[in-house]
Amino acid sequence: MLSAIVAAVLLAIPAIYLYHRLYNSPRSPSTTTSAEKKAQEEKPKTIMQAERTDLAPPKDDPFTLQQLKEFDGSTPEKAIYVAIKGTVFDVTHKRDTYGPGGSYHIFAGKDASKALGKSSLKDEDAIADYSDLPPSEMKVLNDWHSFFSKRYNIVGKVIDLPPAVANL
Ligand code: HEM
Repeated sequence: MLSAIVAAVLLAIPAIYLYHRLYNSPRSPSTTTSAEKKAQEEKPKTIMQAERTDLAPPKDDPFTLQQLKEFDGSTPEKAIYVAIKGTVFDVTHKRDTYGPGGSYHIFAGKDASKALGKSSLKDEDAIADYSDLPPSEMKVLNDWHSFFSKRYNIVGKVIDLPPAVANL
């Protein structure tokens, strides 16, 4: 009988310990200090440019895919635009990246949503029709849209997207 009580106590000790670790740990919101909260809220360090806090209100100017081509950076005085899911972003201040010879020039002056979804830099993927992307690549594409929305001014929208994506 005594040994049964000892065994029960011995089993209870780790169970109580685990319960406190799970439900009352120092990381739970109720016990987190403000310094810990701040550290948790901080974004992970990244090589990508930081989000902007000075973006202009989005504009709604209409662009055809043909008109967008003029904004691929090949004319130095002209702005550079990148469209994603029909939203036209002004990336002019990153001319080194998006202008001729830049790593991501493939995206300039067009809507290359499919390539962004597929993480591709191939010409054949640099098209606006992203309708055949699987869900995982749709998410990648949406993440890029969100990335650009937080970093570049929106200057308009594409008005002649392919029918397959026009209403997506
Ligand atoms: C070995 C492969 C790759 C490496 C090492 C790489 C590296 C980088 C680096 C260092 C940046 C930040 C550059 C900057 O802020 O100027 C960047 C941004 C970017 N990368 Fe890549 N990348 C790779 C592949 C790709 C691919 C396949 C795509 C195709 C979707 C892609 C699309 C982008 C885009 C859209 C940006 C954002 C540029 C911006 O800030 O506007 N990258 N990449």
